[in-house]
Amino acid sequence: MQILVTAGPTREPIDPVRYLSNDSSGRMGFAIARAARRRGHAVTLISGPTNLQDPRGIATHRVVTAREMDEAVQSHFESADGLIMAAAVSDFRPRRASRQKIKKGAMEESIALIRNPDIVARAAKRKGDRFVIGFALETENGERNALDKMKRKRLDAIVWNDASAIGAKRSTATILLRDGGSERIEARTKDTIANAIVRTAERLVHER
Ligand code: CTP
Repeated sequence: MQILVTAGPTREPIDPVRYLSNDSSGRMGFAIARAARRRGHAVTLISGPTNLQDPRGIATHRVVTAREMDEAVQSHFESADGLIMAAAVSDFRPRRASRQKIKKGAMEESIALIRNPDIVARAAKRKGDRFVIGFALETENGERNALDKMKRKRLDAIVWNDASAIGAKRSTATILLRDGGSERIEARTKDTIANAIVRTAERLVHER
């Protein structure tokens, strides 16, 4: 299969030295890309800014903003069998990014924001028989919110995590499927969770 994976945060500039972002190491997405490669798939990885090196044997594209990630995802999705969207996309960006560093005396106390595109929802809207797997990081009403998100964004599966997953060595994740099934993976490494996610993708393709 040809699998498209996203990883890491996006960064939304306020000026050349300041930005809005999400807390994300990129490790989950990179682990998924490596797991998919190990299982014999061709992988394209689109990553926001992280400290991680490009994984060997995987075509890796680096982007910064949500709009750049959107463009890269929509174009690579064309030739993929499916998308695993592990990136922590910034939902908003500053309405204006200043070209020069804003002097603190000139800095407004509030920053006007506008919404970024919902990348995974845009891909899922035109997915045809391709699979789309998303993530839901929730701090409350986890399962309910994750299930709602899966429906709202027309995903085939969603990986539900709580905030303890950020940067952690071991975490717990639940893979919820659109047909009502679920798989809970408790206190495991990101590599183990990544492997389970790739197996889910394989099953979705097999069942289509
Ligand atoms: N996502 C995306 N584009 C965005 C925001 C999120 O593609 N602009 C994707 C994430 O990569 C993830 C899924 O959507 O796979 C869920 O992300 P999350 O931030 O939890 O969802 P939100 O739409 O921001 O929902 P809410 O703010 O209601 O929690």
